[in-house]
Amino acid sequence: MTQPIRFHSRRPRGNADGEARDVRSLVQPGRVHSSVFTDGDVFDQEIERIFHGTWLYIGHTSEVPRHGDYRTRRMGRQPVLMMRGGDGQVRVLMNRCRHRGAAVCEGDAGNTKHLRCWFHGWIYDATGKLVEVPGREAYCDDFDQDAMSLAAPPRVGEYRGFVFASLNPDVPNLETHLGHAKAMIDLMVDASPDGAICINAGVHKTVYRGNWKLVGMDGYHVHYVHASVIAAWNRDPDAGLAATHRGDPFDDESASRTRDLGNGHVMLDLTAHRLSHYEQFSDMLRKTPGGEEYLSRMRGKHGEERARLLVSLAGDPHVGIYPNLQLINNQIRIINPIAPDECEVIMFPVLFEGVSQEINALRIRQHESFYGPAGSGSPDDGEIFERAQCGMMAQVMPWLELSRGLNREEHGVDGVITGRISDEVTQRGQMRRWLELMSAEGEAR
Ligand code: FES
Ligand SMILES: [Fe+2]
Repeated sequence: MTQPIRFHSRRPRGNADGEARDVRSLVQPGRVHSSVFTDGDVFDQEIERIFHGTWLYIGHTSEVPRHGDYRTRRMGRQPVLMMRGGDGQVRVLMNRCRHRGAAVCEGDAGNTKHLRCWFHGWIYDATGKLVEVPGREAYCDDFDQDAMSLAAPPRVGEYRGFVFASLNPDVPNLETHLGHAKAMIDLMVDASPDGAICINAGVHKTVYRGNWKLVGMDGYHVHYVHASVIAAWNRDPDAGLAATHRGDPFDDESASRTRDLGNGHVMLDLTAHRLSHYEQFSDMLRKTPGGEEYLSRMRGKHGEERARLLVSLAGDPHVGIYPNLQLINNQIRIINPIAPDECEVIMFPVLFEGVSQEINALRIRQHESFYGPAGSGSPDDGEIFERAQCGMMAQVMPWLELSRGLNREEHGVDGVITGRISDEVTQRGQMRRWLELMSAEGEAR
């Protein structure tokens, strides 16, 4: 059975008088109150206004290629499944029987042409239609079986195989929500010569004892949290990920940038650095079976300049798409908040359609080397998130400083805000969106 979803917070709720906090007082220019990361009331509001209030990433269509394939996911506290029906369509359905509410789909993933509720045996097909009710004759004439399909979230949308849904019927359309992030998804998908990615290389999950907002998109921590990895890369600069990070993309004087793309979507833009290593990276590809063909197909399809960019980035826009999706290195990452101090992160290696097995194998090895269960990077991140969560429980002088680079931000005509790679542009962009959604004036309510 899928992991039970927890409905409680373990931290004191509200302020000292037991009243809910007004969240607008918790975010100020360049700083944020640590109760945003620790308070049970704030967390409950986040679930309602952000995770039940805006678009969430659910999964990728390539995860369910065949009729009856399904993946169970969650939207905040609500269980859903993504399933491919006999009509070939991928749907997002509420994982809740229309009889008396039991979850109808168990496990994280599988294939079945029919979902049979274990409580009283109602059976749904892979489109969600209720096809059988045991003892059907016991119901009155006005029992409308055709109207008893599994429900769907009020809004579902897809961009290039990325399936999103919203429990809030009043959200702007998906294209508006994604904004500049659409082009970042393109950078990942167009790195495949077929223009298609494939998510079927397994998954691993990490549960942090830390708040969901701590995960990812921080260009400042790398030299400190990952000091041992960087030292190893420097010892063997031609190995694995080191080849694409050679020369330190996280140096403050580098051409790397932080970007606030709007709507909470943020980016660690390593483009200039990766482009400067195109020759070394393409040499590595040429030594891999299928590499020459890959490079040639990319040039033929996209032209020299765009192909160079796409190959250099290797499908890594290094972007956070607010609130629960990150496209980082060779992975898609889903962020599931569980409690103020607990968060599940699910990571999916991204493979390219149209390349050799060896190139995709290289991608998985690179992914494992940093993010795998025995990887060199993810355990460091998990440790520091837990230390951050622990420290924030000290409530004397409770403000967190997010002002790094505030004095050197560049505001583009397209609304994008840019800073140096260690600047807290990304954190400020996420908190700006957080405040919009959490405030009464936000889109959700
Ligand atoms: S709750 Fe599903 S059949 Fe009764
Ligand atoms: Fe990290």
